[in-house]
Amino acid sequence: MSTDPIALDEVLVADRELWQDGPPHELFARLRGQCPVHWTSELTEYPEEAGFWSVTTFDDVQAVSRDWRTYSSAHGITGVTNAVMPVELISAMFIGMDPPKHDRLKALFQRGFTPKRIAEHEDRIRAIAVDVLDRLEGRETCDLVSDVAQPIVSRVIHSFMGIPPSEDADWARLMNSILGAGDPELNPHGVASVMERDVPEIFERCSRLIAERREQPTNDLTSVLVHAEVDGERLEEHEIVMGFFLLVAAGNDSTKATYCSGMRALIENPDQRAMVLDDPALVAGAVEESLRMFPAFAHFRRTATRDVELGGQPIRAGDKVVMWYVSSNRDEAHFEDPDRFDITRTTEHQAFGAGGRHFCLGVALARLELQIMFQETLARYPAMELAGEPRHAATQFANQLTKLPVRLRGAEPPGARGPMAA
Ligand code: HEM
Repeated sequence: MSTDPIALDEVLVADRELWQDGPPHELFARLRGQCPVHWTSELTEYPEEAGFWSVTTFDDVQAVSRDWRTYSSAHGITGVTNAVMPVELISAMFIGMDPPKHDRLKALFQRGFTPKRIAEHEDRIRAIAVDVLDRLEGRETCDLVSDVAQPIVSRVIHSFMGIPPSEDADWARLMNSILGAGDPELNPHGVASVMERDVPEIFERCSRLIAERREQPTNDLTSVLVHAEVDGERLEEHEIVMGFFLLVAAGNDSTKATYCSGMRALIENPDQRAMVLDDPALVAGAVEESLRMFPAFAHFRRTATRDVELGGQPIRAGDKVVMWYVSSNRDEAHFEDPDRFDITRTTEHQAFGAGGRHFCLGVALARLELQIMFQETLARYPAMELAGEPRHAATQFANQLTKLPVRLRGAEPPGARGPMAA
């Protein structure tokens, strides 16, 4: 979509019109060049909400991310503060807290998420991926989002949480509906339904699980939350539920989004796919480039705690400050030819955040999961083709495809019989 005629000071960056087919990359390129820290005066969909600053360059996103004293996470973490979920609930998750409580809660989980501990799960994750791909046997086409990505990522994170397989689809539906609240396909019942239906359902389902773990602790992450003590005090019920929600939400949506966008990019860039098929070690590069070009979360947000200047703009205490990873990851000052999908890049990206206290807890799990998903899919279906138009979620937060129709066995590309093919 061309945004050229609109004067930048009038642009409303979160305007839904701009996000119908995914992030407005042309607009972000103009902002980086001409107004890298930009004020949006209103959110047309949510007239009660205050406007926000957009931070669009790699260096500025890093500066905001690493200065939690000036840019707080405790007053909302997305462009909207209260419109989808009240800020009191958001702040019950450690992603919505500042130090010291944030650090203490995060530390409870960090040991279980180191690359070494996550590597212990490799066989189990691969078995989940293989099992889901086995179900495609005999089919010519499928939707990579709903037939492959969703069932794999749900089972992986749910097994960490102790959720039984029979509840995978229900939890996935709840997470999609909340993270994609503004998108009519992900959330057909409208934004108000998040608080009216989804959150009560989460509390109800979670309360059962919590009661079971109180009675009989296991070694899953739900047990960690239920028995957590911070400064000698147990978490309150709503903090346990929201902590649970944070982990299930982060695990369900993000890896699914990156896998689908990455597979699409590999299909659309046959030279890059041929390189991976030829040299399986390049899978790691394909994962990183997918993360860079298609960060699963288009943004996260902070709130200024004091008056401060950023990129020459006067930010006031209380202002919302949105870090657009979909823009910073394509900052031409940092990445050469940033719109090109190039799996040989080595430059660090910001899909997992830009350092600082809230850097993604699940980074090792996400990387391992994505590598396995790419490997297993490419090994079986090295010549996969698009079989219809992919659909992008029309939201400013969950940067993901909602449909990716593929023909599983397309014409054989160069490299299809390389070392990776089964
Ligand atoms: C492709 C996959 C993923 C991407 C792109 C991603 C991205 C991010 C980003 C950008 C943040 C920073 C938020 C901020 O600065 O406010 C974050 C935080 C977080 N992520 Fe991930 N994530 C992914 C996978 C996962 C997985 C699999 C988990 C599993 C549990 C996870 C758990 C978390 C948690 C708990 C936080 C909050 C950390 C904190 O507040 O200290 N993420 N993630």
